[in-house]
Amino acid sequence: AGPGAGPEADAEADRAGIYYDPYDAVIDADPYPAWRRLRDEAPLYYNEKFDFFALSRFDDVEAGLADWRTYRSGRGSVLEFIKADLDLPPGLILFEDPPAHTVHRGILSRVFTPKKMLALEAKVREFCARSLDPLVGAGRFDFVTDLGAPMPMRTIGYLLGIPESDQESIRDGIDEGLRLEGDGTDLAPTVSDGSQYAEYIDWRARHPSDDLMTELLTTEFEDETGTTRTLTRSEILVYVNLLAAAGNETTTRLIGWAGKALAENPDQRAELVADPALIPNAVEELLRYEAPAPAHARYVARDVVHHGQPVAEGSVMVFLVGAGNRDERRYPDPDRFDIHRDVGRHLTFGYGIHHCLGAALARLEGRVALEEVLRRFPTWEVDWPRAVRARTSVVRGWESLPVLTG
Ligand code: HEM
Repeated sequence: AGPGAGPEADAEADRAGIYYDPYDAVIDADPYPAWRRLRDEAPLYYNEKFDFFALSRFDDVEAGLADWRTYRSGRGSVLEFIKADLDLPPGLILFEDPPAHTVHRGILSRVFTPKKMLALEAKVREFCARSLDPLVGAGRFDFVTDLGAPMPMRTIGYLLGIPESDQESIRDGIDEGLRLEGDGTDLAPTVSDGSQYAEYIDWRARHPSDDLMTELLTTEFEDETGTTRTLTRSEILVYVNLLAAAGNETTTRLIGWAGKALAENPDQRAELVADPALIPNAVEELLRYEAPAPAHARYVARDVVHHGQPVAEGSVMVFLVGAGNRDERRYPDPDRFDIHRDVGRHLTFGYGIHHCLGAALARLEGRVALEEVLRRFPTWEVDWPRAVRARTSVVRGWESLPVLTG
């Protein structure tokens, strides 16, 4: 507003300053001020450039994610996937609605149980030790490239029985599929068909073992048409690809955020070194504080109203879980990282029927990684000039977070 335009025009200009763009690298570096303005001044936000609505308050995000009849995942739950109108394969539960979602999630949760995940603790610890032991005395290591990237891939690879020699190329393939280029207007997202695993699955079918892959190959279920059958090869490919994609990137970023948050809060880090029993709650707070996957999109299946504003059927709604986790209506002093906080339920693993299937494994990996780091490296500083941001559409975090361990 120009001089003398009056308070109303000023308020207009101010409102125009409320802006959130998920593809903007500057906003991505610190989205919290923008998200606070959304929560306070535009609790239903509309972004004209990319044509999406967004909800940012804890209660709105939670209620929306619970309402799968209105907010649908079947066209993808990533903004640019919905916009690109991708052909999504059956079995990719992240991008399915009931009844298909119910059937496939039922099968996956039967073979991929919290009990099986928790039984992986010794393996996870071994993978952390393998990453960290050679770095003791080196004076530096990288939270992401040395630990956060290889450990989750080895863990999921072990669970599925994928040979380590194949794991790296699989991870590279997933990274490639998620990488962002341009400003978000020229995205060409791809969903891998998982063909990189095909050979391995055929081999496992001929050589059954006691791994999860063998279970996927032999498990019987009733499909949407009421027929009892085993999974097709392509359904298994989709499942394996989903577990690898959903389970790696996110956990990798979580471990990167741990390196940053604890470097910035040395007193709390010292408490964790002195009393590792505090680590599980520290992981929970970390999950709240820096959600590795901060935004989930849905297709709006009926006309709705939020905060007095209409949202038409056919719109795209983005649920900002990262903003909900910092909602002062829910958490006192939400921008403070506090390992003693009573975190309660946060939104980082989503909510409702799509709630993260791997949450128990993610928590285990986060806890064990911190235990193993802190045992070897009680203090560190981030080597900021060499740190590199990850530029992917779905996750937010570090591609490289080198630290100096003195
Ligand atoms: C779904 C977050 C680790 C497997 C989800 C969703 C979120 C999420 C937010 C729901 C997305 C939506 O509603 O659109 C995370 C975070 C993790 C993590 C932040 C790590 C810190 C893992 C791991 C695995 C996994 C380790 C498995 C190895 C899945 C699967 C789904 C899912 C299969 C789909 C569930 C469904 O659509 O019904 N995750 N996840 N996740 N996650 Fe995770």
